[in-house]
Amino acid sequence: SGGTRATSRLAADAYGIAEAARLLGAGQVVAIPTETVYGLGADASDPNAVAAIYAAKERPRFNPLISHLPDEASARREGVFDESASALAKAFWPGPLTLVLPAALDGTVCDLARAGLPSVALRVPGDPIARAVLARVGRPIAAPSANRSGRVSPTSAEHVLGDLDGRIAAVLDGGHCPVGIESTVVACLGGRPRLLRPGGVTRDELRRVLGVDPVATASDEERPIGPGLLASHYAPRAAVRLDAERISAAEAVLLFGTFRPVGLAAAAAVENLSPAGDLAEAAARLFEMLRRLDASGAATITVSPIPSTGLGEAINDRLSRAAAPR
Ligand code: TXA
Ligand code: MG
Repeated sequence: SGGTRATSRLAADAYGIAEAARLLGAGQVVAIPTETVYGLGADASDPNAVAAIYAAKERPRFNPLISHLPDEASARREGVFDESASALAKAFWPGPLTLVLPAALDGTVCDLARAGLPSVALRVPGDPIARAVLARVGRPIAAPSANRSGRVSPTSAEHVLGDLDGRIAAVLDGGHCPVGIESTVVACLGGRPRLLRPGGVTRDELRRVLGVDPVATASDEERPIGPGLLASHYAPRAAVRLDAERISAAEAVLLFGTFRPVGLAAAAAVENLSPAGDLAEAAARLFEMLRRLDASGAATITVSPIPSTGLGEAINDRLSRAAAPR
């Protein structure tokens, strides 16, 4: 007890996928790639396995987790789909969308994974490696982002090992996550669907399928306490300052597009999320660049203005959480 054990790094080949599935089936915690970020996976039907996720992350509270399924048919055994949920699943699964639904009476996702709520969060990821693992395990896999609690989300196996080496059984290395930002979370619990967290599916895309705007994020009293919903989250070590038009010497700078803040020449480190001003590229690089600027040792990371259209809503959401008082 208390000792660290080696975390195996599995290549995403037939052996690695089978081994990841075997470990998950045996109640172990394994980090798996998805198209959004790496997930810290465990058998969602096994409370001991789910508890091990919280221990590895050092998450102080039991927050509800997303359960991952290989296809919509498996998801339909765990949640109750209304008309909106069915339309969203048809349009965006597999993909970066999570649906919060009434939990099916005979569902298998344990209370701990749902934090005792009568609802369940379900996602069918688009990443073929993730789906291969999920199909092989044959049980829902609970998976929050594979980082220590409150840290920047991981978009590569190196990021996962940097935070969790020795604390989890294995990481399945699927390379870089192409979307780079977590899934959009939509609750379909009766009435109009509610957008709980902006993410890889944009508000415009949701509106196109629903025919109406999803209701804005619920009031604080209505929301369960979730890590993605806490004000301070996705935090690098450095302080984060947003919409910087001017920078001071020795600050690290995160640029977007062609905008250049006054004083840039004195910056300690500079990264550009997307010189071409492409929000999809910016999302894919956001967490990696925050980590890199943090590693420069600068006390502050200043961020240039980023439009809040399309994926910019999710990018600005993550950045404002990173900038929130800790
Ligand atoms: O892209 C993603 O969604 C990644 C990858 C690994 O799939 N996963 C992820 O999980 O971001 P996590 O645990 O970090 O975020 C779960 C989000 C939180 O905002 C949580 O509050 C919300 O989903 N959530 C989960 N269950 C819920 C429920 N029953 N009711 C309301 N919100 C829920
Ligand atoms: Mg997270």
